[in-house]
Amino acid sequence: MPGTASGVFIGDEWYAVAASAELGPRPLARTALGVDLVLYRTAAGAAVVLRDRCPHRSAPLSMGEVDGDAIVCPYHGMHFGPDGRCARVPGQARIPPGASVRSFPVLERYGLVFAWLGEAARADPALLHAISAYGDPAWGTSRGYHHFRASYLNILDNLVDPAHTTFVHRRTIGNAAAAEVAIEAVEDGDLVRVGRWVDDAPPVPIVQRFAAPRGNVDRWQFYFLKVPSVSWVDFGAFDTGIAHTPEAQARAPYRVLSYAFLTPETAASTHYFWFQLRNIAVDDPAVTAEFEALYRATFDEDKALLEAVQRVEEREPGVAPVRIASDAGVARLRRIIARRLAGEAPPGER
Ligand code: FES
Ligand SMILES: [Fe+2]
Repeated sequence: MPGTASGVFIGDEWYAVAASAELGPRPLARTALGVDLVLYRTAAGAAVVLRDRCPHRSAPLSMGEVDGDAIVCPYHGMHFGPDGRCARVPGQARIPPGASVRSFPVLERYGLVFAWLGEAARADPALLHAISAYGDPAWGTSRGYHHFRASYLNILDNLVDPAHTTFVHRRTIGNAAAAEVAIEAVEDGDLVRVGRWVDDAPPVPIVQRFAAPRGNVDRWQFYFLKVPSVSWVDFGAFDTGIAHTPEAQARAPYRVLSYAFLTPETAASTHYFWFQLRNIAVDDPAVTAEFEALYRATFDEDKALLEAVQRVEEREPGVAPVRIASDAGVARLRRIIARRLAGEAPPGER
């Protein structure tokens, strides 16, 4: 892992720091990119993200309380507003100079709260990855969260590595027949796409069940990673013989977009917020529960493996990995990360 603890993180990015449902009038402590944060909602419902450290004597503000729009320090009761500025000091009229905590730009979308921990002037909401299907009634949503005691770098590797599916996920989404099919990796700016079409094959069980095609299908599975924080898998199928166009994919009888938003917590741990959008049984809560259970079990498999890798690497760091053909996406990904890291100062220090 290159550099110091802070030097391994890309700061200029919208990072998911909480599920919207987690945030209420009680302060929530959360660490992201090695920075301790306090999150809360104002009386009007706006999400606020501040450094979790009182400038007076360093009490964690997350141990305090929310009062209207402000958070109140648990130690001597100083009030800080959503902009981080001190609004009140009990027992004195004067607000001392420098009495503020850093406040971070916030955006709430996709049922998640995003914070920008890098250079605030660059926090453009248009930079958050757009998901047009989210909130569209033609799509059903399932969702969850995993905490990984693993470096985000190793998790990103895993997300552009469809080859692991056959082995790590043999009990959930794996498919032995796919093990020997070549996978193509494409790089476009900060986006890596890895995947393939499997043509003229019998439908896999889940497609059979929900789309009931009459004969063989062409199915696609593409893993996208927008470095460093957004991953999605686009999976779908339609009747063999239909041209492979985006329009045909949009009309497919079975399609699932499985998103994950990753946020490094520390150099060795990662928040993993996930949801799936599906175009079948969109309003059926039983199917939502089934998807949540399936994806939870699948990500549990990744978690067990990646946490074991983390332990091995921590006991014996600095061993260069051997590369194999299915690492095409990993090589591209690591190049993009190095490029992004080279252009930035550490997060939380600007
Ligand atoms: S430590 Fe926060 S008010 Fe004293
Ligand atoms: Fe996996």
